[in-house]
Amino acid sequence: MGVLNVLGIESSCDDTAIAVVQDGRHLVSQAVASSAKIHARYGGVVPEVAAREHTMAILPVLEETLERSRISLSAIDAIAVTEGPGLLGALLIGVTFAKALGMGLGIPVVGVHHLEAHLYANALIEPIAFPALGLLVSGGHTTIVLWQGHGRLDVLGETRDDAAGEAFDKGARALGLPYPGGPQIERLARTARVEPRLRLPLANLGPESLDFSFSGLKTATREMVVAYPDRPGDIAWALEDAVVRALVKTMTRALTRHPVHELYLAGGVSANTALREQMSLLAARHAVRLHIPPVELCTDNAAMVAALGYYRLEAGHRMDMGASPRTNYPLGR
Ligand code: KG4
Ligand code: ZN
Repeated sequence: MGVLNVLGIESSCDDTAIAVVQDGRHLVSQAVASSAKIHARYGGVVPEVAAREHTMAILPVLEETLERSRISLSAIDAIAVTEGPGLLGALLIGVTFAKALGMGLGIPVVGVHHLEAHLYANALIEPIAFPALGLLVSGGHTTIVLWQGHGRLDVLGETRDDAAGEAFDKGARALGLPYPGGPQIERLARTARVEPRLRLPLANLGPESLDFSFSGLKTATREMVVAYPDRPGDIAWALEDAVVRALVKTMTRALTRHPVHELYLAGGVSANTALREQMSLLAARHAVRLHIPPVELCTDNAAMVAALGYYRLEAGHRMDMGASPRTNYPLGR
């Protein structure tokens, strides 16, 4: 059998991304158009604006992806598209485009879960080893999964309020920094003074919980900005430190309860250097192998969508041509 070329399409938030991936493993090419700069003016993603930008970007992004791949559209074997969760108007553009393209080319279309796709950014580096624990940290989710095979995911814990990325985004806003806040906070935190450190408290959800709570950080950061107006770097460090400590503490608990040998990190926040460092220390303490996608594949992209799509297709999944996007799409079985 020859190679299987899957075209991945991602439009759940503010990135219009398309990629070609062979056999769920080899990234051939990708292109992306981001509307983040437009949303930055409003301090967060404006759904109607995101949808409009996707409409305008999707064809040029497809053309750019194909041009870079040196593969013609007729050599594409299947299409994978993010079905949800995400913004309805934004998802609709990708899903409708995928269906139309699939019908036109007479090839199968498969819908994938955006968060599960984030984990598959790791599949572009080497095949996933099971059983594993996964930590998904994005702008909308903070979720721990027990991952026992392709399509076999169980949610062990998740945030009860804000996501880790949201904590960065809202903290950045309190500091007067633009959206998305994560990279801004990371940069500013590097300027922090060592002593005396500012510290933000962690939420206590009880000794058994594998859940998270980050909404308290938003208020605490705002109060800190008022109390220490001349220490933005120290406040950024305190916020980053609090988020990373919460993630490390709860993952330690998850690993103790589920002693697997593989740990996968994914989602936009996994681009964070402090988190990557602390997670590798945790992995060393527990003698597990840590897998983190390269920074450019941590945030939203279409390569991860195509990679997951390959395994979905292999399992016989196909998108119902009458299906609507799934804005609230639960992860797991
Ligand atoms: O996965 P992603 O690109 O989109 C969603 O599915 O949400 O994640 C975006 C989130 C944003 O909240 C952004 O602030 C955060 O990831 N992020 C970071 C970093 N880069 C992106 N957070 C902390 N440090 C970073 N370097
Ligand atoms: Zn994402």
